[in-house]
Order: sequence, then C-alpha cells, then structure tokens
Amino acid sequence: MDIQFVAQIDASADVVAFPVRKGEAGALGALLGAAATQARFDGAAGAIAETAAIDGAQAKRLLLVGLGEGSEHDLERAGAALVARLQTSGVTAVHVDFASAGQSDADDVLAFAMGARLRSWRFDTYRTRLADTAKPSLAKIVIASPAGDLSARWADYSAVADGVALTQTLVAEPPNILYPESFVERCQHLADLGVELEILDERQMKALGMGALLGVAQGSTRPPRLLAMRWNGGAEGEAPVVFIGKGVTFDTGGISIKPAAGMDMMKWDMGGAGAVAGAIKAIAGRKAKANVVGVVGLVENMPDGNAMRPGDVVTSMSGQTVEVLNTDAEGRLVLCDAISWAQKAYDPKVIVDLATLTGAMVISLGHEYAGIFANDETLAAGLIAAGEASGDKLWRFPLSPAYDKLIDSPIADMKNVGPREGGSITAAQFLKRYITDGVAWAHLDIAGMAWHDKDGPVYGKGATGYGVRLLDRYIAANHEG
Ligand code: BES
Ligand code: ZN
Ligand code: ZN
Repeated sequence: MDIQFVAQIDASADVVAFPVRKGEAGALGALLGAAATQARFDGAAGAIAETAAIDGAQAKRLLLVGLGEGSEHDLERAGAALVARLQTSGVTAVHVDFASAGQSDADDVLAFAMGARLRSWRFDTYRTRLADTAKPSLAKIVIASPAGDLSARWADYSAVADGVALTQTLVAEPPNILYPESFVERCQHLADLGVELEILDERQMKALGMGALLGVAQGSTRPPRLLAMRWNGGAEGEAPVVFIGKGVTFDTGGISIKPAAGMDMMKWDMGGAGAVAGAIKAIAGRKAKANVVGVVGLVENMPDGNAMRPGDVVTSMSGQTVEVLNTDAEGRLVLCDAISWAQKAYDPKVIVDLATLTGAMVISLGHEYAGIFANDETLAAGLIAAGEASGDKLWRFPLSPAYDKLIDSPIADMKNVGPREGGSITAAQFLKRYITDGVAWAHLDIAGMAWHDKDGPVYGKGATGYGVRLLDRYIAANHEG
C-alpha cells in the first residue's frame, strides 16, 4: 500500500474520505450531512458512511470516516476501517481530506495512516483462483493535511508496519512451508537492515547440551534451529535487551498427541518466534538507538518412532533435569534451553520471552489480553504501559513459590507439567527456574493473541501480528536515549 502525504486535497480526486470526530457529524454540509443521517453515522471510531456526488461531468464517491474521540487507537481504527471498506471495492486510490477535520495534528494523521497500512496486509499466496472482483484493488492512499511534511516520521511507522507484516506472514504460512530451516531463511533478509544473524544447528546444540529443546525436535524429520538476530543500535558494549520466542512450527503434541479437531491451528505455535522476528525487523528498520537481540528456538513437535516418550528424563543446557510427563508441554522445553543459551551468549539484564504456551491462557483471557508474568516491577510496568500504548494489551498474573513446588518431580529436578489448575502459572514457574539471579525477566503467554478468528481493530481475521508493536514501543520508551 502506497501512502502519501500532501498539503492539500486534489480537487480532481474521484474517491474522497472525510474524517469526522464523534458528535461533529452535525456540522457537515448538506450532502455529507444527509449521508451521515441516512447511515446513522455519528463519527464513532471506525464507522463509515458513503454517498455519491456529481461534480460537473465527474461522478465522485464520498466517504465519512469516524474518528471517535480522537485517541491514537481511534485514529488507527479509522484508517483501518477505510481500508477494510475499500480494499477489494474496485477503488484503486482514495484521497483523505484531513484538512477538514479541524483539530487533527501530525500524530493523528500518522496514526490514521498506520491503521490503514496495518489493515492492508493480506495473505493471498496460495489463492490461485481468486475472482477478479475479489482481488485487492486499493493501491494508494493520499492523505491531505496541513500538518507539514510527515515523510521522515512516516518512515519509522512504516518500518514497524513491515515488522508486523513479517510476523503475520510467518504465522499464516502453512507448516509444510514454514519449518525450522525455512523460518531461518525467511529471516535472512534482516541482514540487509544491519541485523547480525547467528544460527545454531542440531550438532552445535547437542554440543551445548540442549537436551530439552532437542528432545522435542527428535520426533521430527525437520531438523531444529536456534536463530539469534542481533541489532546493535545502542552504546557499544552495553548489554542488550533479549527477546526470546517459542518457535514450534507445528505442535501435534508429540506422543501425547492432540485431538484431530483443530490441530491445524498449531501451525501458529511459532507465534512467539514470529513476534520476535517481526520486532527485530521493526527495531532495525527504524534504526532504534538500543542494543536488542531476538533469539528463537525452532522445532517441530511430532510423534514418531524416535519421539520423546512421556516419562523420559532430559537434561537441559542449564544442567537441570526434566521429567517429561506430557510431550505436549513442549514449549517450555524449547524456551528453557533458548533462555540458558541467551544468558550465556549475551549476559543480558532484561529478558522478555513470548510464547503461545498454554491453552489455559486462552481460557483465562480470551483474545483481548496476553498474560504477563514478571520477576521485576519496573519491567512489568514498562511492558504493560507499552501494551496499552500499542494496543497489544497485557494482563499480569502471579508467580510464587507455592506454584513452583507443583512442578517438583520425584525422580528429576522438575517435571514439565503441573496439575490442570493454574496451568499457565506453573508453565511460567518452569521458565523462571532457568532465569539467572539478577536478570529482570518477563514471560508473555500469547496463546490467545497470535491468531484471531474475528476481525480486530487493525487486522482482518487470521494472523494478528501481536507483540511486534508492544516490543517496539517498550524499546522506544525504555531503552533509547
Ligand atoms: N501450543 C500449546 C498451547 C496452545 C493451545 C496454544 C491452544 C494456543 C492454543 C502448548 O504446547 C500445549 O499444548 N500446552 C498444553 C500444556 C499441558 C499439556 C500442560 C495445554 O495447554 O494443553
Ligand atoms: Zn503442546
Ligand atoms: Zn505448543
């Protein structure tokens, strides 16, 4: 989607959108006012009303777009709603007359443009018979505003949108196409942005003693990978913030196999890794002044003659042993070795992991908030604030020794599952056992957020891109300058 900013509306444009704040529809002229009344349009965020007009010999399509109260989220929602309405409508370009929406400033215009840009992501790779009338037509949005030249600031927004789109694509790809090695290939282009990539193969992981991650991988013919993406935008020698992602490219459950119904959803069990890759793309793309590393553990969890058995004991890179009582609780086994490796490689002061870790989190929070667990108040507050600001919202859950003892094992240092009750919390307690003292750590369980069967404010149903804007905002607000 090509988005341009101009000072004045092009009088010859044949499709024009007029942003309107809530309660201000009454001030519209006769034609637009009638369109608003007929459609019960009151300027609510994301509401749209349409009418047509003849200007000389030219037929024009006119739209009203509600800006609601004018918050950043409202403006994003408005831009997104306009794209959703016009994307496959046959319209190829729309001109947005922000000059008419009196009080809008540069931030408002950029938020509107961001919503439009985010909503324009689609995944048509495998549709070879799409009817012409169902193909996207909208290619250009021209936004007229008196806010001055926004192109320099837009470049940063655009970089973040590119990161979100990468995550959505990774999450949406089918599991025969996206597996550990191809995930790595899909991230190679980050090198063009100045990101340093390091890739560990099975042999190297074996030498490092990553018995937990490798235990998950051993039932699959697809070899595992550990991918580190390093962005050095901050002070030389300053310890990086490390993001860690669960990258289970398909989770059958392994020998503790999942039911058939809905198993296809487990292609997006790499949503944490996808978010981390997208966040690094965003951060590098806008040349953030911070040192940030993304580490993703990539495996496929399959049942097989060589697969892990329930009851197996594996030794993690940390030396701690795990009794694997359920091979479907594999995410924590992947993450624990990724965490140990990242701590050894980077000596970070801050670690944030993201994972589609537990079904219990979907039961708790649905598709509105991801769960956050943290051992550090400042980190928790910074992430929750970034969540509110970005729209990728977080709700805090507890950690405590009382939960921790639920994963003690009679024969190893811990077991990989606790009781059904509090399943998201015992999963977090498991990860906590791998965090070095003094490291500020947060675990984000995004199981309900990576994918949504309904349209959201800035995405259509499917892959949401959750986490990219959250992590980007967190870095911008807490680690730059
Ligand atoms: N990938 C799943 C969690 C999941 C479930 C994510 C549904 C998104 C939607 C994870 O690996 C898993 O299977 N967890 C088990 C853990 C249990 C065996 C302790 C679960 O949540 O049932
Ligand atoms: Zn699982
Ligand atoms: Zn899983």
